[in-house]
Amino acid sequence: MIQQVQLYDDTKDFEVNKAEGPYGDYANIDEPYNNTGEPKYDFFGTPVYSPFGIAAGPLPTPKFIDAALKKGFDIVTLKSVRTDTFPLNLFPQVRPVNVTGNLDPNETLKVADEYTWPVAVANSFGIPSVKPKVWQPMMKKSFALTQPGQALLVAFQGTARGTGADDFVQDHVDGVRMIVETGADVIEINLSCPNEGEENLACFDVPMTTRIVNAVRDEFPDIKLLIKLAYFEDKQHLRRLVESVGARLDGISAINTMATAVVDDDGKEAFPGRPKAGVSGAPIKWAGLEMTKSLVGLRDQLGMNYKVIGIGGVTSASDFHEYIDAGADYVMSVAGAMWNPELAAEIKASLA
Ligand SMILES: Cc1cc2nc3c(=O)[nH]c(=O)nc-3n(C[C@H](O)[C@H](O)[C@H](O)COP(=O)(O)O)c2cc1C
Repeated sequence: MIQQVQLYDDTKDFEVNKAEGPYGDYANIDEPYNNTGEPKYDFFGTPVYSPFGIAAGPLPTPKFIDAALKKGFDIVTLKSVRTDTFPLNLFPQVRPVNVTGNLDPNETLKVADEYTWPVAVANSFGIPSVKPKVWQPMMKKSFALTQPGQALLVAFQGTARGTGADDFVQDHVDGVRMIVETGADVIEINLSCPNEGEENLACFDVPMTTRIVNAVRDEFPDIKLLIKLAYFEDKQHLRRLVESVGARLDGISAINTMATAVVDDDGKEAFPGRPKAGVSGAPIKWAGLEMTKSLVGLRDQLGMNYKVIGIGGVTSASDFHEYIDAGADYVMSVAGAMWNPELAAEIKASLA
């Protein structure tokens, strides 16, 4: 049986979580994880104690970042930010789901009564954001919390305001500039959320992704630039994307959640007004591993240098090693790290 409230309390709105959290074993940590010796790994120029961390999403404030660092997660990501405020989807934003084995995103899932292990979770936040004048100081504060051997990754979400592709591209350049102003230089652009095409993800639109990557890279030649992708079923499509942008990137993260229909016991939408939610945790590990192998294979075939950040369904040290064996340079978790605060410690014990 797993503790139902860890890091995040899904019975409360995201705004309450942000103000009061983190919860469970992430709250009031008396004995922080103690890294010893010299950090043996490198995260885009910063020495780190492990090539493992928490991907974008569950750490919205410096207090959450601090808790994750103290629990021994050596690479932490501040929740994605935007160039302006953006509304939060209605409560609920996070629910446990019933899935047996590998997720088939074409099936309809039922919300579960409680979280079970290995964890399976659906979320629907809409990637809300506060104003840059609010998140820029939070970003600076978060950097100051990292100890030697730990690194912060900054995640950005572009906003399509319905004013055309040029504005959408420019929004990415503006957002990266605002992040650079805080002193950050390792920046992940999330291209796996709905954009202009509404039903489409920006990362499936090769010309759009290419415009965004080129515009940001031309303006900021010296930052470490990463993009975050969704699961690509069509590997030829993925190849076309990598051929077009891979040489201009320092890293590619994959995968984001998998959009799936989620209903309650009465068959009604579990997230009112949103027929689909993003599923993560153990049932999507197959898809994250498949993408890791594809991205590593393409990098080698095309003679490129980007690093691969494997994400999806990492809930144990053996999952972490599956990703490393598949060629991932770094591995990140969200659902696994949320409901197992000892995950970083377990993975580091397995690296010793
Ligand atoms: C509660 C929650 C919030 C998330 N928020 C974001 C986000 O703000 N930006 C983003 O790029 N991905 C976000 N994600 C997706 C995760 O970064 C990750 O790609 C996905 O959950 C798969 O990893 P996992 O199986 O280890 O959870 C979120 C996931 C969860 C569960």
